[in-house]
Amino acid sequence: MPRVPFVCGNWKMHKTVGETVALIDGILAGASTLEGVEVGVTPPFTALHAASKRLIGSRVVLCAQDVYYEAQGAYTGEISAAMLADVGCRYTIVGHSERRARFGETNESAGKKVGAALKAGLRVILCVGETLEQREAGAAIQIVSAQLEAGLAEVTPERAADLVLAYEPVWAIGTGKTATPSQAQEVHAHLRSRLGALLGADVADTIRIQYGGSVKPENARDLFTQPDIDGGLIGGAALVAKDFLAICRAAVP
Ligand code: PGA
Repeated sequence: MPRVPFVCGNWKMHKTVGETVALIDGILAGASTLEGVEVGVTPPFTALHAASKRLIGSRVVLCAQDVYYEAQGAYTGEISAAMLADVGCRYTIVGHSERRARFGETNESAGKKVGAALKAGLRVILCVGETLEQREAGAAIQIVSAQLEAGLAEVTPERAADLVLAYEPVWAIGTGKTATPSQAQEVHAHLRSRLGALLGADVADTIRIQYGGSVKPENARDLFTQPDIDGGLIGGAALVAKDFLAICRAAVP
């Protein structure tokens, strides 16, 4: 069975409620031509409810940018997986490099979040990626392998159908520098083989691995046609409906 490519916009800290609804309307206007691609949007927490209502009956799935691993309690500022499912999210991102670099996300906390999200019935987009320093030191593969293994600490092969990976080299995020298709493919192929070792080759074959980092309408097709790249996690270019739709179209098989 071929993997269905998945293109998800990661809106980060952008868009008010009104702007969210407008962007979603723009995406929905062009989404009917995207047969064979799963499409997701990831507005900020404050706009999830409005986004969820707008997406009813559409084929665009709602995702959250992060989740906390405890079910409930005195965790000021945090949001549980059940709350995200309740508001209509199908997915949550976990372990984005901005969370790792600026907000204390560790491999261990990412692993707990993945486990909690899956347990609550949410699907997960687990992000991995090396910094420029790590790449130049020849440590890219080692870094992403460690992030993957810790991220999957609580994932069993039975739960793996709800897991998506995103390879996002930190040096390519928001910088305009994209990994070349062959640089990205090399890491994706490695991730798939590590997934095979951890969960079994048959399961690894079904898991989508997105590429993220300065994906644009101009470079999307060359990336998405690599054998182990199954769509993308899109930051800046996901904030404009026309560009996001063009990137989604580049993933149509
Ligand atoms: P970018 O961000 O497309 O703006 O580089 C990607 C991401 O951080 O998910």
